Amino acid sequence: MHVNLQIKAVRVGSGTMAQQVRTFSENSKCNLLHQVNFPLSVALVLAFFYYCYLNPRNQMLGSISPGTSKAVSKIYGQQSRKLSRMVYRQPQVLTPARKDVLVVTPWLAPIIWEGTFNTDILNEQFSLQNATVGLTVFLTEQETFYLNVFLQSAEMYFMVGHRVIYYIFTDKPEYVPYLNIQKGRQIIILEVESYYDHWQDISMQRMEMISNFSQQRFHQEVDYLVCADVHMRFSDHVGVEILSSLFGTLHLRYYRLNRTDFPYERRPQSQAHIPEDEGDFYYAGALFGGSVPEVYKLTKACHEAMMVDQANHIEAIWHDESHLNKYLLYHKPSKVLSPEYMCNNTLKKIWDHQGVDFSSNIKRIRLVTTE
Ligand SMILES: *[C@@H]1O[C@H](CO)[C@@H](O)[C@H](O)[C@H]1NC(C)=O
Ligand SMILES: *[C@@H]1O[C@H](CO)[C@@H](O)[C@H](O)[C@H]1NC(C)=O
Ligand SMILES: *[C@@H]1O[C@H](CO)[C@@H](O)[C@H](O)[C@H]1NC(C)=O
Ligand SMILES: *[C@@H]1O[C@H](CO)[C@@H](O)[C@H](O)[C@H]1NC(C)=O
Repeated sequence: MHVNLQIKAVRVGSGTMAQQVRTFSENSKCNLLHQVNFPLSVALVLAFFYYCYLNPRNQMLGSISPGTSKAVSKIYGQQSRKLSRMVYRQPQVLTPARKDVLVVTPWLAPIIWEGTFNTDILNEQFSLQNATVGLTVFLTEQETFYLNVFLQSAEMYFMVGHRVIYYIFTDKPEYVPYLNIQKGRQIIILEVESYYDHWQDISMQRMEMISNFSQQRFHQEVDYLVCADVHMRFSDHVGVEILSSLFGTLHLRYYRLNRTDFPYERRPQSQAHIPEDEGDFYYAGALFGGSVPEVYKLTKACHEAMMVDQANHIEAIWHDESHLNKYLLYHKPSKVLSPEYMCNNTLKKIWDHQGVDFSSNIKRIRLVTTE
């Protein structure tokens, strides 16, 4: 059995938060939670201070310039590795891959639909970056079933063949199920203080947690972050085609509608306010991501906007999703995922039952909500 157990005491901002971190590889099955002994914890806190305040890598988050990403700079650092010969169908300039949908935004970000990309080419190019992908998910005690479904399906379909770290935020580590995971993958459980009672509050806190942990540790461990809701299941290939410095996902329910019909926050008193004559797309709160510095900026901005709203006694109509939409309107994503990446079979069934053809553009369902 290979169990690699790490326990750290981490100082978060002004308050000390004891944080237990379990890291285990594919064969671990046993539940190990130890208390940190006192001299060890002092040493770890000192080591952490060195890491956070003296280590120059930590400056990267703040000093990275807009539009660049760590992953991009890595490509230039690794030019010595050669790609192998590949044989594939030639791209045809006069034959568009898809005629039924928009495949590029007016700011030249690709919209990722089935038929627009070749996974083999993407994988080959991506391997040059030698990058690691982090997948964050939040769990409360009642959701063990959802996490099991989520992780088991991620093992089958998410970033197959690439290095992945699953980050599970929870206040109840004992509810995290034990799974055999593939080689090259890790599960890291981040124990955080108790959540609020309502799911809205949990999703509000999510932005703050991701931003804090991006600054503290994610940037040392992964190149990209994919931030997902636990109430979903991977049902087909979801690979490096989604990765980019900043990406959002088209919400299935609204992808055919005009901007005036989007459920944006319309009250000017809220920081999430978007007027009727603005807006590109309606993005789903359940799946977004990008390079660690970009996700840090996004989650920090959303959290701060939510704090301003809270001080003004207003809460945006769709909570963090409203703030995400506001952010992505003014910080255009560099990739947009089609609703293939956030399907809802119940909604699809309702549309089919009503005889309305709303989902014919979706040729391949890659992620579905778990009902
Ligand atoms: C996040 O970091 C800020 C500033 O460092 C701190 O005040 C806050 O308590 C942290 N939040 C959580 C949930 O850890
Ligand atoms: C790729 O990354 C891993 C982990 O970050 C590292 O151990 C390994 O040396 C890297 N390989 C190359 C060729 O840079
Ligand atoms: C969107 O707006 C256009 C022009 O105002 C209109 O022709 C079209 O029917 C609208 N589409 C939907 C789905 O409401
Ligand atoms: C899926 O769609 C159904 C029908 O509109 C809705 O009731 C349900 O809340 C949706 N599920 C999720 C997870 O959004």
